[in-house]
Amino acid sequence: MIDLIIIEKDAGVLRLRMNRADKKNALTRDMYTAMAYAIETAEQDSEVRVILFEGTGGCFSAGNDLKDFQEQPPRDKAAPVYRFITALARSTVPMVAAVDGVAVGIGTTMLLHCDLVYATDRARFQLPFINLGLLPEAGSTYLLPKLAGTARASELLMTGRPFKAPEAKELGIINWVCAPEELTDSALQSARELAEKPPQTLRQIKSLLKSDSGKVEDRIQWEILEFSERLGSAECKEALQAFQEKRKPDFSKITASQ
Ligand code: COA
Repeated sequence: MIDLIIIEKDAGVLRLRMNRADKKNALTRDMYTAMAYAIETAEQDSEVRVILFEGTGGCFSAGNDLKDFQEQPPRDKAAPVYRFITALARSTVPMVAAVDGVAVGIGTTMLLHCDLVYATDRARFQLPFINLGLLPEAGSTYLLPKLAGTARASELLMTGRPFKAPEAKELGIINWVCAPEELTDSALQSARELAEKPPQTLRQIKSLLKSDSGKVEDRIQWEILEFSERLGSAECKEALQAFQEKRKPDFSKITASQ
């Protein structure tokens, strides 16, 4: 069986590569668990100074595996997706991401926890939660308005429209746009440069920059409670069914008070 997350340590950089290109790197429970464990253990690993998230096959991640949502919905804080989100939010290790192709759902919201993000000029971001009858996660209802302002956050979270790398840069979600063939080298070089900085100071700067982490975690917990409830809703069931059947969802028979 192939490794769906390829984990390598390289000159102080822990590379976590999502490797499920045939499903656009949609994240399964096992993939979340592998990444969460790697992030948690990196905290105490003196050989790890920086974490680098990468995709494969010209895509970053299509977000949570929607089949998994149907078959094994996350119910509580112990669920792999929530363990992953909590690990991201709590990590003091600097995190770099290299984004190519699709970065959908958690493929975008995880970037709000990264410190430096490279994306290619063909990267496509999306926060499609509304169209799935789901609530945004990973603290994004707190972090995105803080970053981009309430008006822009409302637009992206209430319409679920995709956006490209220049807009993601303008919003402050990513730092740099590059050509696809430059992505790996640029992100790796940046991660290696960070790995050469004084590690304690670097982690302290990160902690200061994220001094509202308590608020982020509170929001993550709040989102988790509501998210799990939404997964059982008629709206979400219709959206997930429609995705399986490759059709547009029909919410016309669902009332707002349902
Ligand atoms: N969960 C499960 N499978 C997924 C997936 C997901 N999130 N995203 C893509 N896939 C699968 C597709 O079902 C397809 O599988 P198949 O070849 O067995 O039919 C394969 O990956 C390729 O996807 P496809 O839709 O053909 O690629 P595309 O380039 O046309 O579109 C996306 C890519 C990401 C825009 C589209 O797949 C999509 O919208 N996916 C759902 C994204 C989503 O809603 N994520 C959850 C957020 S909470």
